[in-house]
Amino acid sequence: MAKQFEDNFHRKFYYLRLSVTDVCNFKCTYCLPDGYQPAEKKKPSFLTLEEIQRVTGAFAECGTTKVRITGGEPSLRRDFTDIIRTVAEQPGITKVATTTNGYRMAKHIQEWRDAGLTHINVSVDSLDPKMFYQITGENMFHQVMSGIDAAFDAGFEQVKINTVLLKDLNSQELPKFLDWIKTRPIQLRFIELMQTGEMNDLFNHHHVSGVSIRNHLIANGWLLKVKSHNDGPAQVFCHPDFLGEIGLIMPYEKDFCQSCNRLRISAKGKLHLCLFGEQGVDLRDLLQADDQRPALIDRIRSGLDQKAVGHFLDEGKTGQTPHLASIGG
Ligand code: GTP
Ligand code: 5AD
Ligand code: SF4
Repeated sequence: MAKQFEDNFHRKFYYLRLSVTDVCNFKCTYCLPDGYQPAEKKKPSFLTLEEIQRVTGAFAECGTTKVRITGGEPSLRRDFTDIIRTVAEQPGITKVATTTNGYRMAKHIQEWRDAGLTHINVSVDSLDPKMFYQITGENMFHQVMSGIDAAFDAGFEQVKINTVLLKDLNSQELPKFLDWIKTRPIQLRFIELMQTGEMNDLFNHHHVSGVSIRNHLIANGWLLKVKSHNDGPAQVFCHPDFLGEIGLIMPYEKDFCQSCNRLRISAKGKLHLCLFGEQGVDLRDLLQADDQRPALIDRIRSGLDQKAVGHFLDEGKTGQTPHLASIGG
């Protein structure tokens, strides 16, 4: 194996988040409130299967063991199952995950699992169908819930759920969520709303910290779990009376970035060193032939030398990220 990808702060990168499209069919108020708007008139050209194979192959050679396929909504790609298979076939990749809004899961989850998908995260912002509609702009609550049931039927041992915490919208639903995970092996993660470039005053109206949830959990016998090296940024709590777990993703907390273990590739082949920040290092010209791999690895390494110590979200800086659909969260 080539030398592990590492930055100047001794952070090692085991985990790649690969966006395969920035198109989405939902209109989440905090992400794409007006729905997907194409940046250019002609059809966007997202990474092809061959390009995906080359980029994940290079990362695998340099120590990446987990790839999360993201979007936009990744399952909108017609070749989504082939993408899963291609990533799963790279030697060294042991975890193939995806993050989805869940609208195609009920029909396709078995096929995705058969192709090599090992982990799945689904966005569910409310357990009340009306509030779900208000937040996501789509009336698909029941369809997404059936998708989650289908994932368990297909053999996934755990499903992770993402819930963006929104003051006055879903912030009163904790008891309902706890009830839901009592008998289900779900890891439900509350994500603090992050301010992105195109966000209007939604942030000022609806941002709420996860601290009060954390205090509530600790006061009620929940215990913080120890993290493994390619786990995500969530602080995960478990409780002996609950089959499910609660995670808190609190990017505004001091030292959030210290345990950063992931790099990102956009749907058009740019390497992003952080969810927030720079324009990205274009890799696409080096994804055109198999013998370009050494040059590709060199370019990724020089990019890594530029990785900053953290984001500057707490200073109100959102970098170049207009919304998270543009780079896959
Ligand atoms: P796993 O633990 O592997 O399941 O990964 P994850 O939690 O990173 O995956 P998921 O795609 O479900 O991410 C949930 C959300 O966490 C993302 O969409 C972001 O909102 C947030 N997040 C993930 N990675 C980062 C990061 O590096 N920085 C910041 N600020 N937020 C992140
Ligand atoms: N702040 C926090 N989370 C966000 N997501 C999308 N935009 C934001 C934001 N501005 C979350 C979605 C989804 C995941 C991919 O990212 O809820 O679960
Ligand atoms: Fe689509 Fe995810 Fe953005 Fe919602 S958060 S609009 S599901 S990309």
